[in-house]
Amino acid sequence: MTTTTNSTVLITGANKGLGYETARRLARLGATVWLGARDPRRGAEAVAKIHADLPDADVRTLTLDVTADESVRAAYTRVADSGTGLDVLVNNAGIAGSVTPPAETVPAAFLPVFGVNLLGPVRVTQTFLPLLQESAAPRLVMVSSGLGSFAMTADPERVESTVVDLVYPSSKAALNMVTTMYAKALPDIRVTAVDPGYTATGLNGFSGPQTVAEGSDAIVEACTAAEPAGGFISRHGPIPW
Ligand SMILES: NC(=O)c1ccc[n+]([C@@H]2O[C@H](COP(=O)([O-])OP(=O)(O)OC[C@H]3O[C@@H](n4cnc5c(N)ncnc54)[C@H](OP(=O)(O)O)[C@@H]3O)[C@@H](O)[C@H]2O)c1
Repeated sequence: MTTTTNSTVLITGANKGLGYETARRLARLGATVWLGARDPRRGAEAVAKIHADLPDADVRTLTLDVTADESVRAAYTRVADSGTGLDVLVNNAGIAGSVTPPAETVPAAFLPVFGVNLLGPVRVTQTFLPLLQESAAPRLVMVSSGLGSFAMTADPERVESTVVDLVYPSSKAALNMVTTMYAKALPDIRVTAVDPGYTATGLNGFSGPQTVAEGSDAIVEACTAAEPAGGFISRHGPIPW
């Protein structure tokens, strides 16, 4: 793994959880970090927390709600006008939705979750592409999940096979397909989907066995590896779609 000393990274949903830990780690490695947060106060507090530990870190709060065109456009203008450029876009913001038995799941339950987990990354990626494409070594990182993997959810040896839910897994499966299509369409951009692994965050009521340090390993790897593998990775290496 190399450091990202000269890289500029934008992470959506970075005011807490895995996004925050990724922002903190990349800032420590010397990256310029745009810390995306839909709530400006939560964003400013997260940046202040990083600066308390790392006073010289170049971390900037960026108000960005991935579900709102206007918010994403305003964020783009702010980053583009700042002159930092953009080398790595990390689509991390995500929500779990509520788990209901499949037989009781109504179509409307998909809308908010797909709005954040699928349409959010598409909106942010499409908006920021022109800036990303100006980078000498652009990277696009999608924070997906093992629950979006057909292979892992079908493997009885894996914890992912124990989850029976229509909405969140299908949002991440759709994100995986979008990721492979971006990879084909944009060969000059290194595109990686990441499964952080089951990690204690607000997303799951802090029930995951991994720490955020462990959960952010593969995201940091996708952002910083000298030769990123691309494809779909966890902290243990490549994983099946
Ligand atoms: N934790 C796990 O076990 C696990 C496993 C696999 C994949 N993941 C994925 O990892 C990513 C990060 O999740 P996490 O576990 O770190 O959860 P988290 O602690 O709940 O953080 C989620 C982040 O997304 C933000 N967010 C939600 N809706 C947003 C919107 N409309 N616009 C912008 N930001 C928004 C949240 O902001 P607010 O604070 O304002 O709500 C928060 O900053 C997600 O994509 C999740 O699906 C997590």
